[in-house]
Amino acid sequence: MEHLPLDDSSVDVIISNCVVNLAPDKDRVFGEAFRVLKPGGRVAISDMVTRVPMPEIMRANLVSWAACVSGAITEKEYVAKMRAAGFVGVDKVAGGENPLEPLYSAKFVARKPG
Ligand SMILES: C[S@@+](CC[C@H](N)C(=O)[O-])C[C@H]1O[C@@H](n2cnc3c(N)ncnc32)[C@H](O)[C@@H]1O
Repeated sequence: MEHLPLDDSSVDVIISNCVVNLAPDKDRVFGEAFRVLKPGGRVAISDMVTRVPMPEIMRANLVSWAACVSGAITEKEYVAKMRAAGFVGVDKVAGGENPLEPLYSAKFVARKPG
């Protein structure tokens, strides 16, 4: 996902479930998604996010990273990174309804400007 073997502007839709949290460089991942999408192309991503930043001691735990826990970033950071990559209409469409859940699955949609 950090180096997609696809041409620029060659993809209509990207869907992803519980993968981006595993990438240390999420800006790179969103940048690649943006690069390969055609203008007007859309993304629908389901991923683990947190309510507060993950403590450093957790981020260093590779077992919990591989379990889709430690690599998770906050929902706010997630949206900001998608926007920073150039996506518009970035919207969280589900997840996080239970305020007691520190880590939860959220669904995001966005598109590349046409
Ligand atoms: C939690 S599983 C989710 C699999 C699938 N999306 C699903 O919904 O069942 C995470 C997947 O991400 C893949 N993965 C991890 N790092 C990756 C990377 N840098 N690029 C592409 N895929 C990666 C793993 O091989 C694994 O198949």
